[in-house]
Amino acid sequence: MRLKKTVVLVGMMGAGKTAVGTALARLLNVEVLDSDEEITRAADRSIAEIFQRDGEAFFRDREYEVIGRLLRSAPAVLSTGGGAFLAERNRDQIREFGVSVWLRADLDLLWSRVRHKNTRPLLRTANPRQTLTELYHARQPFYELADLVVDSTPEYSVEEMAERVAQA
Ligand code: S3P
Repeated sequence: MRLKKTVVLVGMMGAGKTAVGTALARLLNVEVLDSDEEITRAADRSIAEIFQRDGEAFFRDREYEVIGRLLRSAPAVLSTGGGAFLAERNRDQIREFGVSVWLRADLDLLWSRVRHKNTRPLLRTANPRQTLTELYHARQPFYELADLVVDSTPEYSVEEMAERVAQA
């Protein structure tokens, strides 16, 4: 299969965007791109440090720029951060250059994957599970705007998930 547009993975933290993106890129024989990774490389700081020192608005501007740049390179698989698809300017540029795929997962699965990691600044709250729940509900309507939906369940391996996205 020859890819005509970049496949853009969107969805909550813990949905598996990075892992599935890597497997999908291997399957499709294209490059895997990751907006968070590009942002941290350019800033030479972790996402948490960027949020802390420069603020979320600064991060969102960098995210917009990086996604725009990556979308203009050869068709590839692009994993985005969980908040990227909330911004209309990102949805617009993703629609123009790519196909968006929402990796949908239920809250229990998301929580089981993020609970032991301390890398996500938005979950550094007194009650991270509650915060994740609130983000989950608030973000659902935005993710629903994606072109395609693929359900992520614990039964599927990363490779199986990649197959399902490729088929979709
Ligand atoms: C964010 C998700 C993170 C990262 C940043 C903000 C969000 O990416 O972009 O911490 O707003 O949901 P992952 O979805 O890869 O965890």
